[in-house]
Amino acid sequence: MENFIFKSPTQFVFGADEHKRTGKYIAQCGGKKALVLYGGGSVLRSGRLQEVVESLDAAGVDCVVQGGVQPNPGSSFVYQAIEAARAENVDFLLAVGGGSVIDTAKAVAAGVPYSGDFLDFYRGRPVEKALPVGVVLTIPAAGSEGSPNTVITDEENKIKKGTKSDCLRPQFAILNPELTFTLPKYQSACGICDMMSHILERYFTKTQDNAVTDRMCEAVLLAVKDSAMRVIIDSEDYQAQAALMWAGMLAHNNICGVGREQDWASHALAHQLSALYDVAHGAALAVVFPAWLRYCLDEDVNLFAQLAARVWQVPESDDKRQMGLQGIERFQDFLRGLGLPSKLEHLDVPAEAIPQLVEQLHAACGDTVGNFKKLTMADAEAIYKDCQ
Ligand code: NZQ
Ligand code: ZN
Repeated sequence: MENFIFKSPTQFVFGADEHKRTGKYIAQCGGKKALVLYGGGSVLRSGRLQEVVESLDAAGVDCVVQGGVQPNPGSSFVYQAIEAARAENVDFLLAVGGGSVIDTAKAVAAGVPYSGDFLDFYRGRPVEKALPVGVVLTIPAAGSEGSPNTVITDEENKIKKGTKSDCLRPQFAILNPELTFTLPKYQSACGICDMMSHILERYFTKTQDNAVTDRMCEAVLLAVKDSAMRVIIDSEDYQAQAALMWAGMLAHNNICGVGREQDWASHALAHQLSALYDVAHGAALAVVFPAWLRYCLDEDVNLFAQLAARVWQVPESDDKRQMGLQGIERFQDFLRGLGLPSKLEHLDVPAEAIPQLVEQLHAACGDTVGNFKKLTMADAEAIYKDCQ
């Protein structure tokens, strides 16, 4: 295990009806006027946004409400929202939605007190100051409700990139599993793949002796695996949605990743698909991650075999490589069973796109990407080709 500092200051408020007390939590943070952001309208149709806004009124918190954040959120919305936040003098950002809305709220929170272009933060400038952010989560997936990260697409250059800072971790996150009941099956499946990917990005490491975090990663993966099909069959299965909602947070607030080098190549490969073809994040990962696993199997067959045995119930054998391969196959079958794609063509991405994907990856990440295996652009090309 390596040295680490872990700070997770977010207050998590979990359970039915808790979103009706959102105003109270903003007031507790000292918020007087909030910019409330939401996405394409699911929370309008479900009536949840109305309930949240009523709770702000009841707590004496003023607000301005702005909808329209798109999946794979873009920079133009952020610029507009920064202007609106400044004009309205808001002192708090409230995201009602999933990763796209939360990441947009974080970008606005960092952008308001900064005089330059907020995209500077996504090009390497550290975020040192931000307005406070609160979250009412509607989809278990990205884990942004507990993470210091935000991912935005620079629409002009078609580059999807992230930044992170502890000052972007939400002050509070309200996790009410009932808010997920309206999720379409495909979105749930995408979220499941994303949270599993967050664990796998941490699991595959060259750091040795990770007894605690290995087991934590495996435990969360098992819980996700056990709950996944239940929500695909019945989106109103409260207990299964509850398990996924908490698992999605644990998968990415980094409690499962402390003390170990992490990889993150699969996310970088997947982001290029989303930036160029607007593919849902979890769907891009469903195609890319199994190919990355196959490509990297020989980096540490014992670690692959360990995961295969403990999570995918592959029988123990002396042939660790074969065990690892079976684990990858079971993972991909599991994703297919949820209705997720397994090939680029399922995402309507043509094979001819691969050179451009590699070019974009190079522009976003430089000469190599990932840590478990430092992938060159030739490696990345081979992985994209295996996704065909
Ligand atoms: O926009 P609305 O109408 O709300 O519909 C959304 C959207 O179409 C829908 N949805 C969400 N909750 C719903 C619902 N539909 C019905 N009922 C509900 N309760 O789901 C669609 C996807 O929403 P989105 O917010 O895009 O999903 P997700 O949470 O998967 O977020 C994906 C984004 O997060 C980024 C991804 O790259 C992607 O841009 N990530 C952010 C991370 C972070 N900040 O830590 C880490 C992740 O690795 C990821 O990169
Ligand atoms: Zn992700």
